Amino acid sequence: MWSSRWLFVLAAAGSAVGLGNIWKFPYIAGENGGGAFVLVYLACVALVGVPIMLAEVLIGREGRQSPINTMRFLTQQHHRRPTWVLIGWMGVLAGFLILSYYAVIAGWAIFYILRMADGTFDGVTGEYANQAFNEFLANPWQMVFWHTLFMGVTVFIVGRGVIRGLESAIRWFMPLLFVLLLVLLGYGVTSGGFAQGVDFMFRFEWGSVTGEAFLVAMGQAFFTLSVGMGAIMAYGAYVPSSASITGTVVTIAALDTVVAVAAGLAIFPIVFANGLEPGQGPGLMFVTIPLAFGNLPLGALFGAIFFLLVSFAAITSAISITEPALAYLVEEYNAKRSRVAITLCSFCWLLGIGTVLSFNEWSDVHVVGDLTIFAFVDYVSQNIMLPLGGLFIVLFAAYALPKAVVQSQLRLSNRAQELIWRTLAGVVAPLGVLSVFLVTIVGFDRLKDWFS
Ligand code: PFF
Repeated sequence: MWSSRWLFVLAAAGSAVGLGNIWKFPYIAGENGGGAFVLVYLACVALVGVPIMLAEVLIGREGRQSPINTMRFLTQQHHRRPTWVLIGWMGVLAGFLILSYYAVIAGWAIFYILRMADGTFDGVTGEYANQAFNEFLANPWQMVFWHTLFMGVTVFIVGRGVIRGLESAIRWFMPLLFVLLLVLLGYGVTSGGFAQGVDFMFRFEWGSVTGEAFLVAMGQAFFTLSVGMGAIMAYGAYVPSSASITGTVVTIAALDTVVAVAAGLAIFPIVFANGLEPGQGPGLMFVTIPLAFGNLPLGALFGAIFFLLVSFAAITSAISITEPALAYLVEEYNAKRSRVAITLCSFCWLLGIGTVLSFNEWSDVHVVGDLTIFAFVDYVSQNIMLPLGGLFIVLFAAYALPKAVVQSQLRLSNRAQELIWRTLAGVVAPLGVLSVFLVTIVGFDRLKDWFS
């Protein structure tokens, strides 16, 4: 059990804020044309992500076990179909896929701590920063080394139990990370590219929206909030009964969004001021940030601290990705946490080699279409499994759980509150997910034609 509501906020915010905010959000916003993507993303966070997070915490606290056993327990207790338990299993699989590449990218961040510190980027140009990153990508051995280090640290922390390491890490790194993002923002404002950066992120043009962008924006909303796979459900199981769920969830979602938007506002001005390409893909953060700090006073020091904080943010997220599977195996087989963590993460590490090679030796190997192993694992887990998991989680909370359970968990004390919950969780969130799937399958252009 978390020792207080505050600790749950820290842990859940630690899970939410991670590579998804600082590395992923800017690069996929860049790839998907900015404005329209960002708007759909924000709508998905508020209308779909928040209700699903509420559902996860309340289900977790009601069941008080790992997601798989929580679902098993609740379906038995309330005489519902056992198929709901599949939610738990899919979450475990999604987490496994996500962690496999998450650890690789987090390894890049660790490497960049040293690179910043040794002055590699002092006074560099955009071209140099780009070239340095490409050279790093070309060497699989080096990448495997940092990937292994990150996985090792994760296993160590997870094996010892979550709370002790987590509290002190998050309490310090969150405010610090935010301060450094503000420093970068200040740099962006004076770089000459700020207006262009803001314009790119917030100018909305229907013409540039594609069906694919809807799906990617929704997937990103799930990924960044850590919902759809049971991670928040697993953490919810440790929430004290006295804590209020609603206020907590809204705080976490708001914090997470602020960090992502700040990261975008810091990165895009640097892109435009230096003639870089906003749609360059996963390397965006690793080219723009070194470039910015390299041209600031004491940049080597602050740049190293920045990547250190990003690595911390990644660890607190990685821990939560393992929790659904870990908690289940510990419960089911009465196994030692550390032993389970080693086994689980070893398999994950192995799959991660596929991601490492996607950037060099196997960059021509495509699983389907033009998706490399990394792109495929990322696409399936983020854009398909998380939204699907989230859809069933919110449906379960809204329709399969008895009303009284939800009422007491969320402390819905009047008709208005109940109506808001019923509308968001019972209608808006599920329809939101379904319509994005529909737009993707049918194609946005075809839908536009139908309605015009
Ligand atoms: N929310 C994390 C991030 O934005 O980096 C990633 C993540 C954590 C995804 C936990 C899923 C999860 F269950």
